[in-house]
Amino acid sequence: MKIGICNDHAGVDYKFRLSEYLESKGYEMVNFGTDTTDSMDYPDVAHPLATAVENGDVDLGIAFCGTGNGIGMTLNKHQGIRAGLCWNAEIGKLIKQHNNANVLVMPARFVSFETVLEITDAWLGETFEGGRHQKRIDKIPYNK
Ligand code: RB5
Repeated sequence: MKIGICNDHAGVDYKFRLSEYLESKGYEMVNFGTDTTDSMDYPDVAHPLATAVENGDVDLGIAFCGTGNGIGMTLNKHQGIRAGLCWNAEIGKLIKQHNNANVLVMPARFVSFETVLEITDAWLGETFEGGRHQKRIDKIPYNK
């Protein structure tokens, strides 16, 4: 499985550490984020990741910014993206079971790296429940 990962300057360290962890588990990682801590604008990395997920160039995405909010807001502007903001493993499970989130977003400045690993394992390890949740996610894309 191919996972795209992106981050702004707040998420560089976690991006590298999580990529190494996932590669050791056999995932192919594609880096869309910045590799330095120089201040940058998160939309510049979020849009390319969202496009790659929508086009099927990667199977899933993971994203970090300081709070997770700016990068998550940007990702969710894409009609094909369901980006879920998570700060514990229980929410990591639920965004897959109920929302079939295709991008996992985490707040780099507010979670420990241990929590990042727990959330990521929870999200990747779950499956979408479908049923009433399928009906709900089908209603998410907005057409005026
Ligand atoms: C960067 O300082 C910070 O604003 C950004 O990482 C993120 O938290 C924005 O939502």
